[in-house]
Amino acid sequence: MRFLTKKIEQNESDVIVSYIYEDAKNESEVFEYLDKLSNNELSKQIYEYKTIKGTLAETFKFSLNKDKKAIIVGLGKKEKLTRQKFAQCIASAGRCAKTIQGAKSIGFELLEHKTKCDCNYSNFEKHDCAKIIFTSARIGLYEFNKYLSDKKESIEAIELLENNLNQEIETAAQIGAYSSFAMKFAKDLINESAQIVTPEYVANLASEISKEHKLELKIYNKNQIKEMGMNAFLAVGQGSVNEPKFIHLKYKPKSTPRKKIALIGKGITFDSGGLDIKPAASMLTMKTDMSGAATVLGIIQAIAKIEPDIELHVISALCENMPSGSSYKQGDVVIAKNGKTIEIDNTDAEGRVTLADALCYADTLGVDEVIDIATLTGAVIVSLGHNITGVMGNNQKQIDNFIEMSKKCGENTWQMPILEEMKDNLKSEIADMKNTGGRNAGTSTAAWFLSNFTKSNSWLHLDIAGTAAPEKSNKETLKGPTGVMIRTLINYLIS
Ligand code: BES
Ligand code: MN
Ligand code: ZN
Repeated sequence: MRFLTKKIEQNESDVIVSYIYEDAKNESEVFEYLDKLSNNELSKQIYEYKTIKGTLAETFKFSLNKDKKAIIVGLGKKEKLTRQKFAQCIASAGRCAKTIQGAKSIGFELLEHKTKCDCNYSNFEKHDCAKIIFTSARIGLYEFNKYLSDKKESIEAIELLENNLNQEIETAAQIGAYSSFAMKFAKDLINESAQIVTPEYVANLASEISKEHKLELKIYNKNQIKEMGMNAFLAVGQGSVNEPKFIHLKYKPKSTPRKKIALIGKGITFDSGGLDIKPAASMLTMKTDMSGAATVLGIIQAIAKIEPDIELHVISALCENMPSGSSYKQGDVVIAKNGKTIEIDNTDAEGRVTLADALCYADTLGVDEVIDIATLTGAVIVSLGHNITGVMGNNQKQIDNFIEMSKKCGENTWQMPILEEMKDNLKSEIADMKNTGGRNAGTSTAAWFLSNFTKSNSWLHLDIAGTAAPEKSNKETLKGPTGVMIRTLINYLIS
């Protein structure tokens, strides 16, 4: 996909997208341009014949001439539009464009949106809009068609159309384009079969990424993982014929870093549950249990391109959770890198056991912040559903900053508590703690478990079990991998 910014008349788009609110006319230069091409037939259709009302994400396809089509997207009532709703409208336009035969490129009007509300979730300037368009149009156009014999023709370029382009717009557009690459990368990797995406495959991918972006890389094999004392992580992978790998990529800025951050992604390349095997229906989507790893690998590529003055470490403990004669067992006690002991109460609560060691490892890097992102608990789906990411941590300021950024980026997050009381849920008679308690407060309990393995006082935990690859579509993304939190994390890291 190519991402371009162009003056309106210089567009090379087969399809051009413009907008209407339910309650206001579009008097922009792009709309005028489209209307002129259609000999004012477009405005007649909209404002006289009311072919489209302008309700949120409603689309109207219109032929301007033999080469060019317009898509008009409804934005709903002006005072009600937010950045998130606008992103949904853009994705909807992208999906609509896919139905236009032969279309190779799509152009979008850059919109500025001002309401009476003074929060920045509603209002956006043209540069904010540029970011939203590049990411959400790509979401709308996305398809995982690698294994389909019948691949449809697809759009190869997204253009932003604006006569007053400036540096602010260009910079934001670039960040949008790199974020969009990161999301596409992550979604493709999550969509790929677990028979291909093994720990070794992901490690090889990390190696390619390190070469392409000149990043430092360490890959640890089974013996090295053992030498480093990461025996909790090792236990989870011991039932699989595919050996575990631990990867660590590092991006260093040219100047002295303003802050150093470690980003950990859960990397279970397949979660069968282990000896506590999952029922078939729950296992069906468990190739997506490496969504955290895919997310952080996508992000570091975007960061390497954006080149902010931060240091970023990307870490993943990659393994398969499988039942076999060599699997870790219920009642086993495993020892994490920091010496804490864990009684295995349930082999399906494997993510936290691998993350325990990854968190200990992150402590050795001298970073200011540690963030982990994990498809960790089914319980977060019960609490927050498929469109809200659970946020936890041990630093309220960091949590607040992160949640604020997620709102600006149009992604939903909600804080869940971590309380000392959770300790009782995981009380073990023979070890420092068990890896699971009862069914209650599953998300918070898992987070409390993790908190035992970090020394950082700026540790943030994102539970994306509900949001990484839901089986139901949401208003922006079709069912399957979403690339959730990639936009928020990139913008958080560079802010
Ligand atoms: N990978 C799952 C969590 C998950 C569930 C991700 C649904 C995506 C969709 C995790 O390893 C798991 O199995 N968690 C268990 C923990 C339980 C045994 C305490 C769960 O949530 O059921
Ligand atoms: Mn599991
Ligand atoms: Zn899992």
